[in-house]
Amino acid sequence: MRRPMVAGNWKMHGTRASVAELIDGLRHLALPSDVDVAVFPPSLFINQVIDGLQGKSISVGAQNAAMESMQGALTGEIAPSQLVDAGCSLVLVGHSERRQIMGEQDAVLIRKFAAAQASGLTPVLCVGETLEEREAGKTLEVVSRQVGSIIDELGVEVFARAVIAYEPVWAIGTGLTASPQQAQDVHAAIRAQLAAKNSEVAQGVRLLYGGSVKAANAVELFGMPDIDGGLIGGASLNADEFGAIIRAAGN
Ligand code: PGA
Repeated sequence: MRRPMVAGNWKMHGTRASVAELIDGLRHLALPSDVDVAVFPPSLFINQVIDGLQGKSISVGAQNAAMESMQGALTGEIAPSQLVDAGCSLVLVGHSERRQIMGEQDAVLIRKFAAAQASGLTPVLCVGETLEEREAGKTLEVVSRQVGSIIDELGVEVFARAVIAYEPVWAIGTGLTASPQQAQDVHAAIRAQLAAKNSEVAQGVRLLYGGSVKAANAVELFGMPDIDGGLIGGASLNADEFGAIIRAAGN
C-alpha cells in the first residue's frame, strides 16, 4: 500500500509575520497518522519553518534547488546539500511556473533531479500539460515526455526515491480542477509508463495531483486508485483548509 502524501507549495508568498501565523496554525492541526505531510516555503523562510515545526511530523522542502549538489560558485542558487544541512528532506523539480516562466527545460531538470538525489533529498517531479496541449489531445504525450526524460537519462529506478506530481497547467491557481477521472487517467498512464520498465517501482511511487485542490474536492480526487495525495498551492496557505485536505487523504 502506498502511504498518501499531502504537500503545500507556498510559492512566493509570505512575510516573517504571516509565516509565523501559518506555523502556529499548522502546529495546532491534529494530523492523521497515515498521511505524510510536507510544506514547501520560500527558501528565505525554510529555517524559520523548520524551527517552528520542531516536534510536529511535517516535512519541509524547497521549491527549487541548484543543479549542482555541492556548494560552490553559483550566485543566487541554493545547493541541495545546503538544503539538507538546513533540515529539508524534499525539493520540487520542474514546477510548471519554473518551466514556463523561468524557462527550465527537461535537460536542466534532469540535472536538478539527480543533484537532489545525490544529496539525499527526495525530488518531487512536477509534470503537466498546458490548456493548448490538452485541447490538441497531447496530454499523455507531453506528460510521458516529461517523465520519460528522467527515465531515459537516470533510469526508472530513481523513482523508487522520488514522488511525481501531475499538475495540469490550466488547473493551477485558476479554480479549474481536473475531474477525478481526468486526473486518474493521466496518473494511470504515468504508472503504466513506469511499469513498462519496472513494475515494483511503478507500484511504489506516489503520484500526487495538483491544481486547485481544496477541501471541497479533495475526497473525490484522493479516492481515485492512482492518486496518492496532492500538491496544494493556494489552499495550503490556510492551515485549517490545508488540515481538511490532509484529513481527506487519510484512512
Ligand atoms: P493551486 O497550485 O493549488 O493554487 O492551483 C498548485 C501548485 O501549483 O502546486
